[in-house]
Amino acid sequence: MEKKLLPGVVTRKRERRDPRLKNWALPSIWTLFVLLILCNHYNLYPKSCHRHSPKFLKYTGEHITWEPCGDLYGKSLECSSIEVPIDQFATEKQNPINSKNFVIPLIRLRSENATQNLLLNPGGPGASGFELLYHRGDLLQTILGSGFHLLTFDPRGVNSSTPAASCYLDAKTRQEQSHIRARDAVVDSPDIYAWAHNFAKACPETMGDYAPYINTPQTAADMNSILDAVGQKDMIYWGFSYGTLLGQTYAGLFPERSKRVVIDVVADQFVWYEGVGESDAFIDTDKVLGGFFDECMKVEADSCALASLATSKEELSEIVLAFMDKIRHKPIDVYINNTVYGILTYEKVWYNGVFKALYNSVRWPPLAQNIYSLIQGNATPAFLAYNTGQELNGESYEFITLNDGLTGPSYWLQDIDALLAQITPWLNTSLFGALFLTIFYQKQQWRVPRTHLYVPRQGVETAHPLLIMSTTYDPVCPLVSARVANEAFAGSRVVEIEGYGHCSVTLSSVCAAKHLRAFLYEGKLPGEYTRCKVDSAYFVSHDETGRTAAQTYFEDPEDQKIHLAQLELMAGWEFTRPIMW
Ligand SMILES: *[C@@H]1O[C@H](CO)[C@@H](O)[C@H](O)[C@H]1NC(C)=O
Ligand SMILES: *[C@@H]1O[C@H](CO)[C@@H](O)[C@H](O)[C@H]1NC(C)=O
Ligand SMILES: *[C@@H]1O[C@H](CO)[C@@H](O)[C@H](O)[C@H]1NC(C)=O
Ligand SMILES: *[C@@H]1O[C@H](CO)[C@@H](O)[C@H](O)[C@H]1NC(C)=O
Repeated sequence: MEKKLLPGVVTRKRERRDPRLKNWALPSIWTLFVLLILCNHYNLYPKSCHRHSPKFLKYTGEHITWEPCGDLYGKSLECSSIEVPIDQFATEKQNPINSKNFVIPLIRLRSENATQNLLLNPGGPGASGFELLYHRGDLLQTILGSGFHLLTFDPRGVNSSTPAASCYLDAKTRQEQSHIRARDAVVDSPDIYAWAHNFAKACPETMGDYAPYINTPQTAADMNSILDAVGQKDMIYWGFSYGTLLGQTYAGLFPERSKRVVIDVVADQFVWYEGVGESDAFIDTDKVLGGFFDECMKVEADSCALASLATSKEELSEIVLAFMDKIRHKPIDVYINNTVYGILTYEKVWYNGVFKALYNSVRWPPLAQNIYSLIQGNATPAFLAYNTGQELNGESYEFITLNDGLTGPSYWLQDIDALLAQITPWLNTSLFGALFLTIFYQKQQWRVPRTHLYVPRQGVETAHPLLIMSTTYDPVCPLVSARVANEAFAGSRVVEIEGYGHCSVTLSSVCAAKHLRAFLYEGKLPGEYTRCKVDSAYFVSHDETGRTAAQTYFEDPEDQKIHLAQLELMAGWEFTRPIMW
């Protein structure tokens, strides 16, 4: 594979993303869901539905009907939905509650000559498959090649599935009740502890019978319902971040159907399901921050403004951390005009700015510029970039996390100080540890019974071994967790992408994409342990189409296509919440 730097401008032409897409897409999905749900519910489907919409699509071997629901650069998307029983693991006799259902909306991007569906999950928990396919589907398809239909869904409780997981009756109540300060473990724990008591009551009351069934093993079983609906026996799957917990859970529960399972940066399933406080999730977080300083000093001040402030990465780190400590004690007032003004706090910069940038190095150059200006006395750029509120539209993250794991008095110390003492060493493993303060008190207080019996095991034999992808330094899914999964799934192999970031989709590596393709198409596993280089540099500016100054040139046109798609994919990859496994 010959590579050299391509001088000048990228040759690939690409239309700018249509900003209207998002706006028209969602209402039309909604219309469709309502239609489908009504049709399914009243058993009118498909006859009467056909009358209203002549465009229903049916494919040989499938048991559901689809409808066009948008267009992605000339490729049409199609949507459908299925109903799944509230408890996938109960027999009908055991379970009178099984008259209730979740509705799981599906979306698919077809490939001309494909015969099989590849299921995607974007992570979270709580991230929407619809969002993923609408915004990134065409690029994922370019990376994967045209051999698969890309099929994804909003998991039970998530986004447009119904009922959606919620702890509050309406948005106003959420606005009033959901925010609790978690800045300092010692100072804020008493409030969080009291708040968590109410939270643990409001959630089950709001979700009623549905509350216990929003969890990962149920969703794994729902994926079988999806496969059955499209008449496919084998699971072909690519999950990112939390999507790797879903993938591991699926492979653990249904090894015989796990034909091509790819998990992309691993969350440790043993900790997720059985952990009480201890976790390795944050062990590399600060190393990614260290990488930010290191790469900044390497490129110097033309590309990283911060580099002019120091002569070494250690010195730069000290300067920035000292500055952060300063604004922690003395936040900065920013006044632009009488509509745009406010207080720039430590939390805004540290979590909305720095922590989010650890996930994806395309955010490094603007982060360096904003912090540089801030240190120089101009807080406006940082304020405009990071003073964003967190808009929550549901509690699927909490329901799934809490219902999956061990919660309540049988596992968690109920005393506030005892719990604090137990979790402090773990919170201290990272400069960002306070982000996870709240979830421990939520686990401590959660009383919803577990409705799954999934227990992670070692040495699971799947129909075909898993492909495990990891970056060398991931802020929340460290490489050690990839090794844990490697041991849990017999014959699985790890591809390590030698760089900083969260999931293969935030780095460009043609090598990694080729391993992915070889695995998905031919079932080919890489060698015992495989490392892939990253093809693009850090601290190069990316525009929204991913064009960068330091683009790599590949002789093979297919490689070049993959490379450009990866650059564009990473340029626009958004993790929807700062807390993202
Ligand atoms: C699909 O198959 C046809 C016939 O073999 C071929 O001409 C076409 O290029 C294929 N399309 C894609 C996207 O591979
Ligand atoms: C689904 O997610 C999108 C983007 O995150 C959001 O705009 C939309 O309101 C969500 N829908 C529901 C029903 O939560
Ligand atoms: C206030 O400042 C913002 C940000 O610079 C600008 O977009 C907005 O138009 C201004 N509003 C008024 C009323 O001047
Ligand atoms: C955790 O970090 C805090 C703040 O840096 C420090 O005061 C405390 O002693 C540390 N606790 C442990 C158990 O390491």
